[in-house]
Amino acid sequence: MDFMNNPFSLTRKRILVTGASSGIGRTTAIECSRLGATMVLTGRDETRLQETMGALMGDGHSAIAADLTDSQSLAQLIERVGNLDGLVVCAGQGGVVPLKLASRQRLDPVFEINYFAPVELMRLLLKKKCINDGASIVFVASIGGIDSITIGNGVYGASKAAINSAMKFYAIELAPKKIRSNSVCPGMVNTGMIKGGAVSEEQHKTDMEKYPLKRYGEPEDVAYGIIYLLSDASSWVTGHSLVIDGGVTI
Ligand SMILES: NC(=O)c1ccc[n+]([C@@H]2O[C@H](COP(=O)([O-])OP(=O)(O)OC[C@H]3O[C@@H](n4cnc5c(N)ncnc54)[C@H](OP(=O)(O)O)[C@@H]3O)[C@@H](O)[C@H]2O)c1
Repeated sequence: MDFMNNPFSLTRKRILVTGASSGIGRTTAIECSRLGATMVLTGRDETRLQETMGALMGDGHSAIAADLTDSQSLAQLIERVGNLDGLVVCAGQGGVVPLKLASRQRLDPVFEINYFAPVELMRLLLKKKCINDGASIVFVASIGGIDSITIGNGVYGASKAAINSAMKFYAIELAPKKIRSNSVCPGMVNTGMIKGGAVSEEQHKTDMEKYPLKRYGEPEDVAYGIIYLLSDASSWVTGHSLVIDGGVTI
């Protein structure tokens, strides 16, 4: 494919995707490779990471299994990752509990992966000068962290609000190096995260009716927004949260 003169092209960009072993991260990695990027994938599950590797287009890609909440594992990732023109911080976890019942035991694991691990990852990548000048960083937040305040989503929503806030501070702090920082805020997306949890199939069907476009998102719906923010098409966009939610927060 000829990517010349295509502002959405990702050729000559080396991009790290966390959470690349499933769902939105996996689809984002595959779609980025289709637009010419060289991918570095990370996730905990080596088998599923290799499945993503097998679906990438082009060559030169690599996969590094790591638990981002484990300092040793994170250090090994940083050691091997190399220089980056793009970073998609997608690894995350949900957790349904009313905030009034949320003990530290319920809060900590969600904040560990959704907030503390991304901030530590950023610190180490910047310290080792892995993020090239002019790079683009995209955090996968959630409408739960902005406009969608639903019962049971308080712990998760607060963790996503925290990373969304951090995203704006990075935008200011890294602007002198022309490094951009943005987020996407998806509504409900059909991935493993929403399946088999506390919410039944029936409840999902009822919830879907609240979406003006009458469906949940597919991972591609989010991946294409991420690609826009990674590409040179968005070179004047930083500190922005792109809501991708089928209109549910209108
Ligand atoms: N699905 C939705 O409705 C929705 C809506 C809004 C935002 N989001 C956000 O989108 C992102 C991706 O979620 P998804 O829906 O694609 O869910 P998913 O399929 O469950 O993927 C979650 C990913 O995060 C990785 N991960 C979790 N904990 C990790 C850790 N400690 N270290 C390294 N990797 C870890 C998982 O890796 P392993 O499987 O290898 O352990 C997996 O690749 C999350 O940040 C989520 O909050 C999802």
